[in-house]
Amino acid sequence: MQYVKLGSTGLDVSRICLGCMTYGVPDRGTHEWTLDEDAARPLIRQALEAGITFFDTANVYSDGTSEEIVGKALRDFARRDEIVIATKVHGRMRPGPNGAGLSRKAIMTEIDHSLARLGTDYVDLYQIHRFDPDTPVEETMEALHDLVKAGKVRYIGASSMYAWQFSKMQYTALLHGWTTFVSMQNHYNLLYREEEREMLPLCADLGVGVLPWSPLARGRLTRDWGTTTGRSATDAFGSTLYLEGDRAVVETVTRIAQERGVPRAQVALAWLLHQDTVTAPIVGASKPQHITDAVAAVELRLTEKQIEELQAPYTPHPVAGH
Ligand SMILES: NC(=O)c1ccc[n+]([C@@H]2O[C@H](COP(=O)([O-])OP(=O)(O)OC[C@H]3O[C@@H](n4cnc5c(N)ncnc54)[C@H](OP(=O)(O)O)[C@@H]3O)[C@@H](O)[C@H]2O)c1
Repeated sequence: MQYVKLGSTGLDVSRICLGCMTYGVPDRGTHEWTLDEDAARPLIRQALEAGITFFDTANVYSDGTSEEIVGKALRDFARRDEIVIATKVHGRMRPGPNGAGLSRKAIMTEIDHSLARLGTDYVDLYQIHRFDPDTPVEETMEALHDLVKAGKVRYIGASSMYAWQFSKMQYTALLHGWTTFVSMQNHYNLLYREEEREMLPLCADLGVGVLPWSPLARGRLTRDWGTTTGRSATDAFGSTLYLEGDRAVVETVTRIAQERGVPRAQVALAWLLHQDTVTAPIVGASKPQHITDAVAAVELRLTEKQIEELQAPYTPHPVAGH
């Protein structure tokens, strides 16, 4: 495994981050395709044994049970000082007032609930899951800064939003001397490259690390077009993200994977790892082979020609995943 600094911080992270949205109690929350604790633990252990030290979850994943499962497994299998735990705040955790969003009240409440579920006294990377148009940016940024100063959070990050929103938040923090975001977790893969227009150049300019979510387009880049799995059949959000025109990219991934004699997932992840802005793709793993492939992708060198061929059939997409 390779380790790199997250953006312009001194924090070491593995070049693969394990996406823990895959782990959670299936009948809690909105992801009925998740793996329960017994199925999740061996995969988390395998990831650690392969050198993965970076784990991403969220308060909303499976109604908090992802944080519970991941926190317990990491307590059992890892040394807290070595690993980097990332979680998120913004999504709705309860019906009624103040059950979602980025108000000072919601952030202060949700960090304590996440810490309790994770069974740790600090989160390494606390990310806002989306932009909250109903809360002043100053209120959110000061609350996040206060969490850092209180020792509950080491670094702060953000996830999918428009570049102007991210820029506004970042410069608001700078103007006030508050903690700034060190990372952007956004939707970026061979099928969805809209982030190359504004967000990725902004992150490069600001020295912000990029953590692509759904780097395999939720599995579409790993198999023949139209093939369904247990997850894809029930992944309602995933079904909104991609277009028929993406098939040509998947076919190119297939051809290059055959030429290289490796599984398609390795080619698709290697392409992301070749992008200068990308720190660590956040890979979803529901089987041991998924972790094996993700780790192998770190060492797979693509030629300039292969990179050009992978990019050539791209079809522009409407903004998706904000
Ligand atoms: N910030 C956000 O808004 C946001 C949104 C989405 C995700 N995320 C984060 O990103 C993480 C990853 O998301 P994701 O699960 O959608 O990512 P993904 O890596 O694009 O998709 C994972 C799926 O791809 C298939 N797969 C993975 N490796 C494979 C391999 N080697 N061979 C064949 N198939 C393979 C599996 O599908 P099957 O299970 O169907 O076989 C797996 O469940 C999440 O866990 C979460 O931490 C964040």
